[in-house]
Amino acid sequence: MKIQIINGPNLNLLGVREPSIYGSATFEDYLKELRAQYPDIQIDYYQSNVEGELINKLHEIGFTYNGIIMNAGAYTHTSIAIADAISGIKAPVIEVHISNVYKREEFRHHSMLAANCKGVIAGFGMDSYRLGVEHIIKQ
Ligand code: DQA
Repeated sequence: MKIQIINGPNLNLLGVREPSIYGSATFEDYLKELRAQYPDIQIDYYQSNVEGELINKLHEIGFTYNGIIMNAGAYTHTSIAIADAISGIKAPVIEVHISNVYKREEFRHHSMLAANCKGVIAGFGMDSYRLGVEHIIKQ
């Protein structure tokens, strides 16, 4: 079983970026814990601040992986190009957010991606990613 986690813009700053919203753990630390919880599953990680690179990654792994957990950051709210990439691949994509976007500014309430995703998980902190892994495993 192969699962790909993809993080979009500014998520390389987790741990230092607005810790009151996103927590104080780095993603690399969280990833170590997550992989330790699922030793039999290959969990790959990719982060980019560049929209086209996120699309290239979806194309690269989207026909061979069992599932993709994607936090597209602010591109969630703007990117028709990422939405089209999600529609164009075979692997199911789960949209995740660390924060509860519905409790925040109104521009975060709309996702360009959600309609093309299997489902959306938001507001559980870093645990949002594990919940995505759980779903993919059960398929
Ligand atoms: C986020 C929420 C987005 O609105 C924001 O632009 C992010 C992070 C989250 O994980 O809560 O960069 O996707």
